[in-house]
Amino acid sequence: MKLFESYRLKGLKLKNRIVMPPMCMYHATQDGFPTLFHLCHYATRALGGAGLIIVESTAVLPEGRISDHDLGIWNESQAHELKRLADACHEYGAKAALQISHAGRKSRLLSGKLYAPSAICYGKNYRIPYEMTQEDISHVVSAFGEAARRASEAGFDALEIHAAHGYLLHEFLSPKTNHRSDRYGGSLENRTRFLREVLEAVRKDWPVECPVLLRVSARDCYGCTDTSSEVLEIVNQVKSLIDLVHVSSGGLVLSEKKDDDAFQISLSARLREKCGLPTVAVGMFTDENAAEDILASGKADLVVIGRELLHNPNWPVDVAVRHNIPGYVPDGYGRAFVPLPLS
Ligand SMILES: Cc1cc2nc3c(=O)[nH]c(=O)nc-3n(C[C@H](O)[C@H](O)[C@H](O)COP(=O)(O)O)c2cc1C
Repeated sequence: MKLFESYRLKGLKLKNRIVMPPMCMYHATQDGFPTLFHLCHYATRALGGAGLIIVESTAVLPEGRISDHDLGIWNESQAHELKRLADACHEYGAKAALQISHAGRKSRLLSGKLYAPSAICYGKNYRIPYEMTQEDISHVVSAFGEAARRASEAGFDALEIHAAHGYLLHEFLSPKTNHRSDRYGGSLENRTRFLREVLEAVRKDWPVECPVLLRVSARDCYGCTDTSSEVLEIVNQVKSLIDLVHVSSGGLVLSEKKDDDAFQISLSARLREKCGLPTVAVGMFTDENAAEDILASGKADLVVIGRELLHNPNWPVDVAVRHNIPGYVPDGYGRAFVPLPLS
């Protein structure tokens, strides 16, 4: 099965194609440190057989958190604690990536500066953001660079830059949220400038042999116009700075419905074909045949198993056992997977 074939990207070697995507757990301490919950949560998914675990959205600055229970990596002590999560994933056979982010206008913190490319409010119950100055932009760019260095020192094998779901980087990319008239707004090249500067800063402090993943939204929201050609162009512009594209969608503006998965899977296939970069497909996979089909038909290189892994951390082990793939049942768990003799 393709799902259980190993995968290599630069120095990263995965035992299978199953990716646990970043999923905020809101269990961090109020100063952004991981807790015992995180250690158990990620170690369990590693034991359960996921090939790559992308640790949830981790803020590069305190004001870049969505909530005051998000993880942070704006200081060395936080990185020191995050290392325990990377170590736990390694101990149980998974590789670990860290998603680094800035929430921009979608931060729900009640105090601190709310940054955005333009002063446009996300919606009811959100504060009105403040239009970033050049100084703010440079400050956030270097925070991403510092975060990359700390993530590398913490032993993460890959780094994911969160440019999707309407958070700060995505806000710069879209003309809906970026009304600037300086060199960060207007043309697509200008709107991509902030992302490019972030990626350049990250690259300076991140080992060449370790992949940089970019998470994008295939379109801005459910019902929004098709911006996939623009996303393709954005990816092309930063292609030399990234190694893989993680194709999600939505989140830029409030919408009642979640975006449909077929849309993001088709963009994954297009990005692979047109930009020549490997991709991760996202799409509420709960059934291995659907995931296998995406891989076998060349629509993606890796697949996300998100909510299903929250529900069943052993999903990869279960599938491996069903398909006679050896090596997945953790030591000590064997008797759970063979019929017990009748006593
Ligand atoms: C509880 C939860 C938290 C999430 N947090 C993040 C996050 O921190 N960063 C991110 O990029 N996506 C986040 N997502 C989106 C997931 O990464 C993933 O794209 C989504 O769950 C779709 O995959 P699935 O259909 O396999 O669940 C979150 C999703 C869930 C359910």
